[in-house]
Amino acid sequence: MKNIASSGNVIERLKKIMPPGVQPKFTTPQEWRDWQLEEGRKRADEVSRVNDQVRAEKILGRSGIQDLHRKCTFANYDVACEGQRHALTMAKRYAQNFGEGFGSFVFSGNPGTGKNHLAAAIGNHLLKTKRTVLIVTIPDLSTLIRATYDGEGGSESALLRDLSRVDLLVLDDVGVQRASKNEWVVLNQIIDRRLSSLRPVGILTNLTHQETGEMLGARIMDRLTMDNGIWVNFDWGSYRPKVSHLHVVK
Ligand SMILES: Nc1ncnc2c1ncn2[C@@H]1O[C@H](COP(=O)(O)OP(=O)(O)OP(=O)(O)O)[C@@H](O)[C@H]1O
Ligand SMILES: [Mg+2]
Repeated sequence: MKNIASSGNVIERLKKIMPPGVQPKFTTPQEWRDWQLEEGRKRADEVSRVNDQVRAEKILGRSGIQDLHRKCTFANYDVACEGQRHALTMAKRYAQNFGEGFGSFVFSGNPGTGKNHLAAAIGNHLLKTKRTVLIVTIPDLSTLIRATYDGEGGSESALLRDLSRVDLLVLDDVGVQRASKNEWVVLNQIIDRRLSSLRPVGILTNLTHQETGEMLGARIMDRLTMDNGIWVNFDWGSYRPKVSHLHVVK
């Protein structure tokens, strides 16, 4: 009460010294107080988002998007064929509509075609708009899971919880290794848990639609493409020969 009364005084005093024609942002103490509460709530949300990202990055011991892909954007994705144009349009649309539903995305196709590039472009866009993003390969995930069995790196349930909290989790190289039964169960749990709590996943894979279906099962496949989820085939040649000189170490 005292606060409201004193804010009332302040507003009255401000009104007196304001030049004519200036509209005060708040006309009543209650409006001022509501604004302060709203600002406090926004700051708390922001802190909790930052915490989610920090926790996610701590799991990996690196930033949510690998350094190699930090500079990948929609603008620096070259378009030389219709397929690339389609992939770029779909990825951009996915990033711009993020948060309106909980649709996931699957980028499936040949090596070097830019699946990671466009997933990182989506991730970089989301990080800029204060979302939390983690791109992790299945082999890295398997190592993390094994570490929890060995008693390192916290408990498996804490790992699952942290992975299910980020706004976008991208699972990279799905199908590259045959996961052990245990790891396979956990991978399914992660996807299932995220999709049940209406949080999307991104999947990057060299597997075809049919092979991905055989691996993930019909239930998860259905849910991936629910709510405007997208499936994009990357069926053109590798971009890697053009950049390979960057990787040659003599
Ligand atoms: N259309 C493109 N325009 C610009 N750079 C591209 C394009 N396609 C791929 N690249 C670049 O080529 C390299 C390989 O691409 P990327 O890692 O995204 O391939 P990928 O589809 O994920 O391959 P893999 O299936 O082997 O993981 C990256 O450096 C990426 O930035
Ligand atoms: Mg890749």
